[in-house]
Amino acid sequence: MQKVRKAVFPAAGLGTRFLPATKVIPKEMLTLVDKPLIQYGVEEAVNSGIENVIIVTGRGKQALEDHFDISFELAQTLAERGKDSILKELNKIHNLAQVSYIRQKQALGLGHAVLVAHDLVGDEPFAVVLPDDVVDAQEPCLKQMIEVYEKYQAPVIAVTEINGPEISRFGVIAHEKIDEYTYRITDMVEKPPYAEAPSNMAIIGRYILTPDLFPILAETGKGTGGEIQLTDGMKKLLASRPFYACKFKGKRHDAGDKLGFLIATIEFALKRKEFAEDLKNYLKNLSI
Ligand code: UTP
Repeated sequence: MQKVRKAVFPAAGLGTRFLPATKVIPKEMLTLVDKPLIQYGVEEAVNSGIENVIIVTGRGKQALEDHFDISFELAQTLAERGKDSILKELNKIHNLAQVSYIRQKQALGLGHAVLVAHDLVGDEPFAVVLPDDVVDAQEPCLKQMIEVYEKYQAPVIAVTEINGPEISRFGVIAHEKIDEYTYRITDMVEKPPYAEAPSNMAIIGRYILTPDLFPILAETGKGTGGEIQLTDGMKKLLASRPFYACKFKGKRHDAGDKLGFLIATIEFALKRKEFAEDLKNYLKNLSI
């Protein structure tokens, strides 16, 4: 069985939900407390055993490359000033993983962004991580999914329960339950009207996929919203092979949405020893 060694991070989107912040700053560089969204995703991947990170970028996304590169001047200045602990933190970033970049020249959709990475992925299974979905989990979400992949040797999608009309903002699966955390997918539909959603299991931004998806994506036309949808490609692949869903243990934050980002910021800050007490007191005493 081929190991999952590579993870694709589509980061070429326009981030329109977060304007005006994302006019110049890539959405993936917005920070939760003190770390950009993309770094949370890369750390999750590395902690799940991923060796190669492939970031799909576009115009105006140079900050992403700089973030994972050595910043010589900064390192030298910090060393001279004896700021060893910050320097150690910084050095960790460029030593995290082997990172490659490829450009998606036009934001033609998530399916297209994944297709652009085909040459760098080659003929092996791979993960896809959407950096604006930040998953807070004891065991990294991707690691939980790789375990399912290794058991069934088939593609795996991360899902979370969404109850109510909000489900129509997601891809949704129809399924047969295997156990509390594992489902066999029988159908999937992108952004269904609430009444037509086949379940309350929403697809989130983590996937383990197989290379037989690439030729299908290459043939997939534009779907919902005029974009080449990853879900449409996966749905076609589902006709010819089993597909699984992993209801991961953990909490997913939509940090690409303004409210989701604010909630994630508060929750992540409350988990930090240096801020927890003061922030908790501040929130308690807020008179709203
Ligand atoms: P989103 O739909 O959340 O991102 O796509 P977006 O298009 O940047 O944001 P909004 O909706 O306009 O605010 C999920 C991920 O897929 C990437 C995005 O960068 C994001 O990380 N993506 C999306 C691409 O790389 N290329 C695309 O053509 C579309």
